[in-house]
Amino acid sequence: MQTDGIFQSTDKAMTRVGLFYFWHEPDYTLDMTPPKILITRLIPDLGLNLVKEHFPTLEVFTADLPPTREQLLEKVRGVDGLLCLLTERIDTELMDAIGPQVKVISSMSVGVDHIDLAEATKRGIPIGNTPGVLTDATADQAFALLLAAARRITEAERFLRAGKWITWCPSLFLGADLHGATLGIVGFGRIGQAVAKRAQGFGLRVIYHDPTAQPAFGSQPAELDDLLRESDFVSIHVPLTQKTKHLVDAEFLSKMKSNAVLVNTARGGVVDQTALYVALKSKRIFAAALDVTDPEPLPMDSPLLELENCIIVPHLGSASKWTRDQMSLLAAQNLIAGLNGERLPHCANPDVYR
Ligand code: GLV
Repeated sequence: MQTDGIFQSTDKAMTRVGLFYFWHEPDYTLDMTPPKILITRLIPDLGLNLVKEHFPTLEVFTADLPPTREQLLEKVRGVDGLLCLLTERIDTELMDAIGPQVKVISSMSVGVDHIDLAEATKRGIPIGNTPGVLTDATADQAFALLLAAARRITEAERFLRAGKWITWCPSLFLGADLHGATLGIVGFGRIGQAVAKRAQGFGLRVIYHDPTAQPAFGSQPAELDDLLRESDFVSIHVPLTQKTKHLVDAEFLSKMKSNAVLVNTARGGVVDQTALYVALKSKRIFAAALDVTDPEPLPMDSPLLELENCIIVPHLGSASKWTRDQMSLLAAQNLIAGLNGERLPHCANPDVYR
């Protein structure tokens, strides 16, 4: 094991299980140079150990914070396989720094807006992602935020901790009911549908806007304007693309009901935060609950943090133990397949194979 403090390299074809070390047959023979692999953070053991079983020689960035841009540009030079997170911007400059030998870039995320997919496809680099395994965790998070905003949980907890609770009061922290209310889901892919499934149990009527999706879980399709006019809760589940950037802008917010709650577990860039601040401050809408912001982390001087009717948590949609384990496994499987010259099990730019 070599270490330069924050990067650690393994160079033994063995894995420790309990007190024992097992030798593995690596995916290359001893007269071949092992591929150069970089993993940009310490990922869960499930995925990390799988990579080590196949390719014992790899380098892992082990610090708590992501590598700086300079560290990344330096460390990616000459790698054959890169396993990164959504904190790393994989653009033309970075692909130039990696070099033409790279066989795969595998991201431990379902979202790939941090990667220039078109550029990767042009260069023939398959990009791996981790769809499916984080659907339920993210839908749970959307629902947790929806309930927290509807019932003013974080605001009430701050009140209690500040010692302001004198007694039970008929009008203390009145919130919104879910039963009989309408939930509008913008983007009805895997996660949007998992939110609709949960909404059924809460007695919500569900409408969705997504021209490419079929109704599921008792939901009905709607035009965006109709959805905004009718919904008491609006939950965002579209990927961040050039088309969806600032989809939630002043006009979008002006079409929402004044009692409405906006929930965003997709990407911060989908919401124009300045417009959201104005809508929340002026009570144009009732509340917002954000798992994601732009930028991340949200600067501590963001005016959104002054608002009682805005809940913000630090991008935790997939943050459950099982989910992160599974994400690391899919990311490892994509990396291994790419290094072996096989088609990635989960490829975000399938055009690369055309
Ligand atoms: C999380 O936001 C992900 O894209 O995996």
